[in-house]
Amino acid sequence: MEELQQILEQALKQFADTTDEAELEQVKARYLGKEGSLTVLLKGLGKLSAEQRPAAGARINQVKQGIEAALQQRREDLQNNKLANKLAAESLDVTLPGRGLGTGGLHPVTRTLQRIEQLFHSLGFATASGPEIESDFYNFTALNIPENHPARAMHDTFYIDSQHVLRTHTSPVQIRYMENNQPPLKIISSGRVYRFDSDATHSPMFHQVEGLWVDEEISFSNLKGVVQDFLKRFFEQDDLQVRFRPSFFPFTEPSAEMDMSWNGGWLEIGGCGMVHPNVLKNVNIDSEKYLGFAFGLGVERLAMLRYGVNDLRQFYDSDLRFLKQFN
Ligand code: PHE
Repeated sequence: MEELQQILEQALKQFADTTDEAELEQVKARYLGKEGSLTVLLKGLGKLSAEQRPAAGARINQVKQGIEAALQQRREDLQNNKLANKLAAESLDVTLPGRGLGTGGLHPVTRTLQRIEQLFHSLGFATASGPEIESDFYNFTALNIPENHPARAMHDTFYIDSQHVLRTHTSPVQIRYMENNQPPLKIISSGRVYRFDSDATHSPMFHQVEGLWVDEEISFSNLKGVVQDFLKRFFEQDDLQVRFRPSFFPFTEPSAEMDMSWNGGWLEIGGCGMVHPNVLKNVNIDSEKYLGFAFGLGVERLAMLRYGVNDLRQFYDSDLRFLKQFN
Protein backbone atom coordinates (compact mmCIF):
# COMPACT_ATOMS: atom_id res chain seq x y z
CA MET A 1 0.00 0.00 0.00
CA GLU A 2 2.81 2.36 0.85
CA GLU A 3 4.54 1.53 -2.39
CA LEU A 4 1.34 2.42 -4.30
CA GLN A 5 1.15 5.82 -2.69
CA GLN A 6 4.79 6.44 -3.70
CA ILE A 7 4.13 5.32 -7.26
CA LEU A 8 1.20 7.71 -7.52
CA GLU A 9 3.13 10.68 -6.16
CA GLN A 10 6.12 9.93 -8.36
CA ALA A 11 3.95 9.57 -11.48
CA LEU A 12 2.18 12.89 -10.79
CA LYS A 13 5.52 14.61 -10.32
CA GLN A 14 7.07 13.14 -13.46
CA PHE A 15 3.99 14.04 -15.53
CA ALA A 16 4.20 17.60 -14.29
CA ASP A 17 7.87 17.76 -15.32
CA THR A 18 7.24 16.75 -18.95
CA THR A 19 7.53 19.46 -21.60
CA ASP A 20 5.93 17.80 -24.61
CA GLU A 21 3.56 14.98 -25.52
CA ALA A 22 6.22 12.52 -26.70
CA GLU A 23 7.97 12.76 -23.38
CA LEU A 24 4.65 12.35 -21.59
CA GLU A 25 3.96 9.09 -23.44
CA GLN A 26 7.36 7.76 -22.40
CA VAL A 27 6.68 8.56 -18.77
CA LYS A 28 3.25 6.95 -19.05
CA ALA A 29 4.86 3.67 -20.21
CA ARG A 30 6.89 3.52 -17.00
CA TYR A 31 3.63 3.07 -15.05
CA LEU A 32 0.96 1.75 -17.38
CA GLY A 33 3.00 0.06 -20.12
CA LYS A 34 3.53 -3.71 -20.40
CA GLU A 35 6.48 -3.55 -18.07
CA GLY A 36 5.10 -0.55 -16.16
CA SER A 37 5.23 -0.64 -12.37
CA LEU A 38 1.45 -0.61 -11.96
CA THR A 39 0.95 -3.31 -14.57
CA VAL A 40 3.47 -5.48 -12.72
CA LEU A 41 1.61 -4.95 -9.46
CA LEU A 42 -1.72 -5.87 -11.07
CA LYS A 43 -0.19 -9.05 -12.44
CA GLY A 44 1.10 -9.88 -8.94
CA LEU A 45 -2.39 -9.74 -7.42
CA GLY A 46 -2.78 -13.46 -7.95
CA LYS A 47 0.02 -14.17 -5.49
CA LEU A 48 -1.87 -12.49 -2.67
CA SER A 49 -4.14 -14.34 -0.30
CA ALA A 50 -7.87 -14.26 -0.94
CA GLU A 51 -8.39 -11.88 2.03
CA GLN A 52 -5.76 -9.38 0.90
CA ARG A 53 -6.69 -9.42 -2.78
CA PRO A 54 -9.92 -7.26 -2.92
CA ALA A 55 -8.49 -4.35 -0.90
CA ALA A 56 -5.20 -4.42 -2.79
CA GLY A 57 -7.02 -4.70 -6.15
CA ALA A 58 -9.28 -1.79 -5.26
CA ARG A 59 -6.32 0.34 -4.19
CA ILE A 60 -4.30 -0.47 -7.31
CA ASN A 61 -7.28 0.45 -9.50
CA GLN A 62 -7.71 3.70 -7.58
CA VAL A 63 -4.07 4.59 -8.16
CA LYS A 64 -4.36 3.56 -11.78
CA GLN A 65 -7.37 5.86 -12.23
CA GLY A 66 -5.49 8.65 -10.48
CA ILE A 67 -2.56 8.20 -12.84
CA GLU A 68 -4.81 8.05 -15.90
CA ALA A 69 -6.65 11.20 -14.83
CA ALA A 70 -3.36 13.03 -14.23
CA LEU A 71 -2.07 11.79 -17.58
CA GLN A 72 -5.17 13.06 -19.38
CA GLN A 73 -4.93 16.41 -17.59
CA ARG A 74 -1.26 16.80 -18.49
CA ARG A 75 -1.99 15.92 -22.11
CA GLU A 76 -4.57 18.68 -22.29
CA ASP A 77 -2.27 21.13 -20.54
CA LEU A 78 0.58 20.39 -22.94
CA GLN A 79 -1.73 20.79 -25.95
CA ASN A 80 -3.05 24.06 -24.58
CA ASN A 81 0.47 25.32 -23.94
CA LYS A 82 1.48 24.38 -27.45
CA LEU A 83 -1.48 26.25 -28.91
CA ALA A 84 -0.87 29.26 -26.66
CA ASN A 85 2.79 29.40 -27.75
CA LYS A 86 1.82 29.13 -31.37
CA LEU A 87 -0.74 31.92 -31.03
CA ALA A 88 1.74 34.12 -29.21
CA ALA A 89 4.38 33.58 -31.89
CA GLU A 90 1.93 34.38 -34.67
CA SER A 91 0.28 37.24 -32.88
CA LEU A 92 -0.69 40.35 -34.80
CA ASP A 93 -0.57 43.72 -33.11
CA VAL A 94 -3.53 45.34 -34.76
CA THR A 95 -2.69 48.66 -33.11
CA LEU A 96 0.55 49.00 -35.14
CA PRO A 97 0.40 51.56 -37.95
CA GLY A 98 -0.01 50.01 -41.43
CA ARG A 99 2.80 49.94 -43.96
CA GLY A 100 0.83 51.86 -46.54
CA LEU A 101 1.32 51.72 -50.28
CA GLY A 102 4.32 54.07 -50.45
CA THR A 103 3.23 56.79 -52.85
CA GLY A 104 5.72 57.61 -55.58
CA GLY A 105 6.89 61.07 -56.46
CA LEU A 106 8.04 62.92 -59.53
CA HIS A 107 11.71 62.62 -60.41
CA PRO A 108 13.58 65.83 -59.54
CA VAL A 109 14.49 66.33 -63.21
CA THR A 110 10.81 65.99 -64.18
CA ARG A 111 9.85 68.52 -61.52
CA THR A 112 12.52 70.90 -62.75
CA LEU A 113 11.38 70.51 -66.37
CA GLN A 114 7.78 71.18 -65.42
CA ARG A 115 8.82 74.25 -63.48
CA ILE A 116 10.92 75.58 -66.38
CA GLU A 117 8.12 75.02 -68.88
CA GLN A 118 5.54 76.66 -66.67
CA LEU A 119 7.73 79.74 -66.21
CA PHE A 120 8.38 80.13 -69.96
CA HIS A 121 4.71 79.66 -70.72
CA SER A 122 3.99 82.51 -68.34
CA LEU A 123 6.46 84.59 -70.40
CA GLY A 124 4.44 83.83 -73.54
CA PHE A 125 6.47 80.97 -75.07
CA ALA A 126 4.64 78.13 -76.85
CA THR A 127 5.90 74.53 -76.86
CA ALA A 128 7.42 72.58 -79.76
CA SER A 129 9.00 69.16 -79.95
CA GLY A 130 11.20 66.96 -82.11
CA PRO A 131 12.59 63.41 -82.26
CA GLU A 132 15.44 62.08 -80.12
CA ILE A 133 16.81 60.07 -83.04
CA GLU A 134 17.65 62.89 -85.37
CA SER A 135 19.04 63.04 -88.84
CA ASP A 136 22.50 64.38 -89.38
CA PHE A 137 20.89 67.16 -91.42
CA TYR A 138 18.75 68.59 -88.58
CA ASN A 139 21.27 67.98 -85.82
CA PHE A 140 24.17 69.57 -87.73
CA THR A 141 23.94 70.66 -91.37
CA ALA A 142 20.84 72.87 -91.17
CA LEU A 143 22.32 74.47 -88.05
CA ASN A 144 25.23 75.76 -90.12
CA ILE A 145 27.53 72.91 -89.08
CA PRO A 146 28.64 71.49 -92.43
CA GLU A 147 30.06 68.00 -92.82
CA ASN A 148 33.72 67.81 -91.83
CA HIS A 149 33.37 71.07 -89.92
CA PRO A 150 35.47 70.88 -86.74
CA ALA A 151 32.46 72.05 -84.70
CA ARG A 152 31.02 68.53 -85.05
CA ALA A 153 33.86 67.32 -82.86
CA MET A 154 32.53 69.53 -80.00
CA HIS A 155 29.56 67.25 -79.69
CA ASP A 156 30.77 63.73 -78.68
CA THR A 157 28.04 62.28 -80.85
CA PHE A 158 26.41 58.86 -80.54
CA TYR A 159 25.84 57.71 -84.13
CA ILE A 160 22.94 55.38 -85.02
CA ASP A 161 24.20 55.03 -88.59
CA SER A 162 26.01 57.32 -90.99
CA GLN A 163 22.90 59.51 -91.40
CA HIS A 164 21.31 59.38 -87.94
CA VAL A 165 22.41 60.39 -84.46
CA LEU A 166 20.99 60.55 -80.96
CA ARG A 167 20.43 64.28 -80.97
CA THR A 168 23.26 66.07 -79.22
CA HIS A 169 21.14 69.13 -78.44
CA THR A 170 17.58 70.43 -78.76
CA SER A 171 18.61 73.00 -81.40
CA PRO A 172 17.36 70.82 -84.33
CA VAL A 173 13.84 71.60 -83.09
CA GLN A 174 14.53 75.22 -84.06
CA ILE A 175 14.93 74.08 -87.67
CA ARG A 176 11.92 71.77 -87.63
CA TYR A 177 9.73 74.51 -86.18
CA MET A 178 10.92 77.28 -88.48
CA GLU A 179 10.43 75.04 -91.54
CA ASN A 180 6.74 74.88 -90.73
CA ASN A 181 5.99 78.22 -89.11
CA GLN A 182 6.56 81.83 -90.09
CA PRO A 183 7.67 84.57 -87.68
CA PRO A 184 6.84 85.93 -85.24
CA LEU A 185 7.90 82.75 -83.41
CA LYS A 186 8.27 82.33 -79.71
CA ILE A 187 8.79 78.77 -78.54
CA ILE A 188 10.57 76.53 -76.12
CA SER A 189 11.32 72.86 -76.65
CA SER A 190 12.55 70.54 -73.93
CA GLY A 191 13.69 66.96 -73.94
CA ARG A 192 16.46 64.41 -73.77
CA VAL A 193 19.77 64.89 -75.52
CA TYR A 194 22.80 62.57 -75.66
CA ARG A 195 26.55 63.00 -75.56
CA PHE A 196 29.43 60.63 -75.02
CA ASP A 197 30.44 62.18 -71.71
CA SER A 198 30.25 61.30 -68.00
CA ASP A 199 31.54 63.04 -64.86
CA ALA A 200 30.17 65.05 -61.93
CA THR A 201 28.67 67.68 -64.26
CA HIS A 202 27.97 65.48 -67.33
CA SER A 203 25.82 62.41 -67.92
CA PRO A 204 25.54 60.67 -71.32
CA MET A 205 21.81 61.46 -71.39
CA PHE A 206 20.60 64.79 -70.11
CA HIS A 207 17.87 67.31 -70.75
CA GLN A 208 17.88 70.67 -72.43
CA VAL A 209 15.34 73.40 -72.85
CA GLU A 210 15.71 75.22 -76.13
CA GLY A 211 14.31 78.71 -76.53
CA LEU A 212 13.71 80.54 -79.80
CA TRP A 213 12.24 83.98 -80.41
CA VAL A 214 12.19 85.32 -83.95
CA ASP A 215 10.59 88.65 -84.82
CA GLU A 216 11.35 91.92 -86.57
CA GLU A 217 13.05 93.63 -83.69
CA ILE A 218 14.76 91.20 -81.43
CA SER A 219 18.07 92.08 -79.85
CA PHE A 220 20.71 90.53 -77.67
CA SER A 221 19.41 92.62 -74.78
CA ASN A 222 16.04 90.88 -75.18
CA LEU A 223 17.87 87.58 -74.89
CA LYS A 224 19.63 88.65 -71.71
CA GLY A 225 16.43 90.09 -70.28
CA VAL A 226 14.39 86.94 -70.93
CA VAL A 227 17.04 84.57 -69.59
CA GLN A 228 17.73 86.67 -66.51
CA ASP A 229 14.06 87.12 -65.82
CA PHE A 230 13.52 83.39 -66.14
CA LEU A 231 16.45 82.57 -63.83
CA LYS A 232 15.27 85.00 -61.16
CA ARG A 233 11.86 83.35 -61.17
CA PHE A 234 13.29 79.86 -61.32
CA PHE A 235 15.59 80.36 -58.33
CA GLU A 236 13.17 82.79 -56.57
CA GLN A 237 16.09 85.10 -56.02
CA ASP A 238 16.61 88.68 -57.24
CA ASP A 239 20.36 89.05 -56.72
CA LEU A 240 21.47 86.12 -58.88
CA GLN A 241 25.04 85.86 -60.08
CA VAL A 242 24.71 85.15 -63.81
CA ARG A 243 27.51 85.62 -66.35
CA PHE A 244 27.25 85.84 -70.15
CA ARG A 245 30.63 84.74 -71.45
CA PRO A 246 31.45 85.31 -75.15
CA SER A 247 31.56 81.99 -76.95
CA PHE A 248 31.05 80.33 -80.31
CA PHE A 249 28.23 78.29 -81.85
CA PRO A 250 27.96 77.88 -85.63
CA PHE A 251 24.21 78.57 -85.47
CA THR A 252 24.35 81.85 -83.52
CA GLU A 253 26.29 85.05 -83.96
CA PRO A 254 27.20 86.61 -81.61
CA SER A 255 27.18 83.72 -79.15
CA ALA A 256 27.59 83.42 -75.42
CA GLU A 257 27.66 80.80 -72.74
CA MET A 258 25.75 81.41 -69.52
CA ASP A 259 27.33 80.62 -66.19
CA MET A 260 26.04 80.76 -62.63
CA SER A 261 28.14 80.94 -59.50
CA TRP A 262 28.63 77.50 -57.96
CA ASN A 263 30.96 76.07 -55.30
CA GLY A 264 33.11 79.21 -55.32
CA GLY A 265 33.44 79.11 -59.13
CA TRP A 266 31.13 79.12 -62.14
CA LEU A 267 28.92 76.41 -63.59
CA GLU A 268 27.88 76.62 -67.23
CA ILE A 269 24.10 76.35 -67.52
CA GLY A 270 23.76 76.75 -71.29
CA GLY A 271 24.55 78.47 -74.55
CA CYS A 272 22.81 81.25 -76.42
CA GLY A 273 23.11 83.85 -79.12
CA MET A 274 21.47 85.64 -82.02
CA VAL A 275 20.22 83.21 -84.67
CA HIS A 276 22.83 83.06 -87.45
CA PRO A 277 21.56 84.47 -90.82
CA ASN A 278 22.62 81.20 -92.49
CA VAL A 279 20.20 79.29 -90.24
CA LEU A 280 17.35 81.61 -91.20
CA LYS A 281 18.27 81.17 -94.87
CA ASN A 282 18.22 77.39 -94.48
CA VAL A 283 14.55 77.59 -93.45
CA ASN A 284 13.60 80.32 -95.95
CA ILE A 285 13.08 83.08 -93.43
CA ASP A 286 14.12 86.52 -94.64
CA SER A 287 17.24 87.30 -92.64
CA GLU A 288 17.11 90.95 -93.70
CA LYS A 289 13.66 91.37 -92.15
CA TYR A 290 13.86 89.06 -89.18
CA LEU A 291 16.16 88.65 -86.24
CA GLY A 292 16.02 86.09 -83.50
CA PHE A 293 17.67 84.80 -80.42
CA ALA A 294 18.06 81.24 -79.26
CA PHE A 295 19.25 79.58 -76.10
CA GLY A 296 19.75 76.08 -74.79
CA LEU A 297 19.69 75.45 -71.04
CA GLY A 298 20.92 72.33 -69.23
CA VAL A 299 18.03 71.12 -67.09
CA GLU A 300 20.13 68.89 -64.77
CA ARG A 301 22.51 71.79 -64.19
CA LEU A 302 19.62 74.00 -63.11
CA ALA A 303 18.31 71.19 -60.88
CA MET A 304 21.78 70.80 -59.31
CA LEU A 305 21.92 74.48 -58.50
CA ARG A 306 18.38 74.67 -57.20
CA TYR A 307 18.60 71.57 -54.99
CA GLY A 308 22.28 71.81 -54.00
CA VAL A 309 23.29 68.52 -55.64
CA ASN A 310 27.01 68.25 -56.29
CA ASP A 311 27.11 65.30 -58.65
CA LEU A 312 24.66 65.32 -61.53
CA ARG A 313 24.96 61.54 -62.06
CA GLN A 314 23.06 61.03 -58.78
CA PHE A 315 19.89 61.94 -60.68
CA TYR A 316 20.32 58.71 -62.66
CA ASP A 317 21.57 56.26 -60.02
CA SER A 318 17.97 55.26 -59.14
CA ASP A 319 18.81 55.44 -55.44
CA LEU A 320 15.46 55.93 -53.73
CA ARG A 321 17.12 57.40 -50.64
CA PHE A 322 18.36 60.23 -52.86
CA LEU A 323 15.23 60.58 -55.00
CA LYS A 324 12.78 60.56 -52.07
CA GLN A 325 14.27 63.77 -50.74
CA PHE A 326 12.56 65.65 -53.55
CA ASN A 327 9.01 64.37 -52.93
N1 PHE B 1 22.78 73.81 -78.73
C1 PHE B 1 23.82 74.40 -77.94
C2 PHE B 1 24.47 73.29 -77.11
O1 PHE B 1 23.83 72.33 -76.81
C3 PHE B 1 23.31 75.45 -77.01
C4 PHE B 1 22.75 76.61 -77.76
C5 PHE B 1 21.40 76.66 -78.05
C6 PHE B 1 23.55 77.65 -78.17
C7 PHE B 1 20.88 77.73 -78.74
C8 PHE B 1 23.07 78.73 -78.83
C9 PHE B 1 21.72 78.76 -79.13
O2 PHE B 1 25.61 73.41 -76.73
